[in-house]
Amino acid sequence: MLFRQLFDSETSTYSYLLADETTREAVLIDSVREQVDRDAELVAQLGLRLLAALETHVHADHVTGAGLLRDRLGCRIVLGARTGVLTADRRVAEGESVRFGRHVLEVLETPGHTDGCVTYVCHEEGMAFTGDALLIRGCGRTDFQQGDAGTLYGSVREKILSLPAETRLYPAHDYRGRTLTTVAEERRFNPRLGDARSREEFVALMRGLRLPYPRRMDEALPANMASGVTEPEPLAVSREEAARWAPVARTASGVPVVTAEWLAAHRAEVRVVDVREHLEFYGGLGHIEGAELVPLATLEASARGWGRGAAVVTVCAYGTRSGKAALLLREQGFTRVASLHGGMVHWAELGLPAIEVRGGGDSQEAGAFLGMDI
Ligand SMILES: [Fe+2]
Repeated sequence: MLFRQLFDSETSTYSYLLADETTREAVLIDSVREQVDRDAELVAQLGLRLLAALETHVHADHVTGAGLLRDRLGCRIVLGARTGVLTADRRVAEGESVRFGRHVLEVLETPGHTDGCVTYVCHEEGMAFTGDALLIRGCGRTDFQQGDAGTLYGSVREKILSLPAETRLYPAHDYRGRTLTTVAEERRFNPRLGDARSREEFVALMRGLRLPYPRRMDEALPANMASGVTEPEPLAVSREEAARWAPVARTASGVPVVTAEWLAAHRAEVRVVDVREHLEFYGGLGHIEGAELVPLATLEASARGWGRGAAVVTVCAYGTRSGKAALLLREQGFTRVASLHGGMVHWAELGLPAIEVRGGGDSQEAGAFLGMDI
């Protein structure tokens, strides 16, 4: 079998390209959107035909490349049945298999990090792709995305560490440069899920972890629920609205929006209301100068005292919460309100200025995760 382990250094994510050397049929496990050019080029250079982009789960720390790979290479998108991702072409459950050429990956449902986590096992090669259920000497966190430590313990011990001892295990991440491990090694040395740990000890250990809010979660989760295809929707500007206070367009779902470029040029003329949480406002994406922090849950109460005629632009990471906020303000009688299209993520992509207040650099932040999936 042709096998390549690929790495995204920004998010410490491993992607795995597997192919049948005779038929040239291939699958790619856990692609990263920023690496789609690299991966598509490799597939072409090796003369492969990509049948499927597989995901081990809905990631919270990076955006998948699956949607772009499907557009470019015509592959199918495959996820666990319990992920709820509607853009998947196939959702696989326990015991089902994914075939490429003469090779077969068996699907094991391994929930606990998320409900929809699966492990792909290639029995004939003695390899398993564990996602974030089991990391090298660690495991994925269990404090969000339906995470549950007791469930993860059962998944890892009964499904993964019960595979033959020599089985090579390939995780979705490693933050210390390690590339693979084996069942025997993890049973002996994994400080969380090895043979020496009881379920009770593991649950207590996971409960005691104080992990920071994942830096890219607000961007990654909605994007990954759409397989990473998040091109801005076409905007239809209404002339009446354009004549009023701003070139307000409406998305397909009816949210009034303005562009980042417009807001950057007219920032001083509008009330910029950032509806994210405190940690995000002061976190990696930073915030727009002069923006007021009003988390979405408190917006309704806060806005009671505001003049209804004021021009308001709502902001969040990605545009989802700020869209809700804009609609909520419209219901409250605000006539000049719009959401920042694409949110702070798009603002940052355009290189527009943001105020950033944070404790340390990326490497320090990454180090704080101590081998945890972010
Ligand atoms: Fe994860």
